[in-house]
Amino acid sequence: MPAALIALSLIPVLAGTARLVELNGGPSLIPSDPRFTASPLPVVVHIVSATTYALLGALQFAPGLRSRRPGWHRASGRVLVVAGLGVAVSALWLTLFVPPQPGSGPLLFVLRLVFGPAMATALLLGVVAIRRHDVMTHRAWMTRAYAIALAAGTQAFTEGAGAALFGHSPLALDASRAAAWVVNLAVAEWAIRRHSAARGRRGGRVLAGVGRP
Ligand code: HEM
Repeated sequence: MPAALIALSLIPVLAGTARLVELNGGPSLIPSDPRFTASPLPVVVHIVSATTYALLGALQFAPGLRSRRPGWHRASGRVLVVAGLGVAVSALWLTLFVPPQPGSGPLLFVLRLVFGPAMATALLLGVVAIRRHDVMTHRAWMTRAYAIALAAGTQAFTEGAGAALFGHSPLALDASRAAAWVVNLAVAEWAIRRHSAARGRRGGRVLAGVGRP
């Protein structure tokens, strides 16, 4: 699972690394963008927090690591909450105060205004749940927050498919990005339900075994 999640985040993580190199005066591995050159701080905060969140976050889904090294899960979780809030806040900052991405339209603008706060809310609900020792609810909200963030990776695929099917209009770009959030959240909900069903079955087997010789 972590390997698949890291693979999915590789495209935006590598693009972000190339952007940081370019903004730092290094070789232009990707075309420079005057919107970010003029005011690099929001995109730098976004890339650093998103890279930390995507890569470290993937490891939180490794069941072996969670059970063998609970201390690691807790410490890394604290870093991830800060990084995740960094992603959400910088995403809002970029959406509201940096000119919109050329070729995108109002739908993407609205979606970013929805999903930035939605990601922050999911993270905070995950923290509240674990403080109540409600592991299932914690897991569900953290999975949703990660799914929202990782749409940045899924978008690389939905954008290609959207352009092939519907061309290069702003609406096609916005809709293909929206599709990435829909796909990721659908997969997250499926994983959450599958996990709670499996736990229910295990619990049932344990109860059924109680009192047997
Ligand atoms: C871990 C997940 C994420 C990664 C790895 C990531 C990565 C990136 C990167 C590398 C850029 C810079 C693009 C460039 O240099 O051209 C960027 C820009 C941006 N990201 Fe993210 N991002 C993530 C999550 C999000 C989320 C969840 C949102 C919104 C809710 C978001 C909103 C934005 C916005 C608004 C920009 C500016 C785009 C533009 O106007 O060109 N990102 N992201």
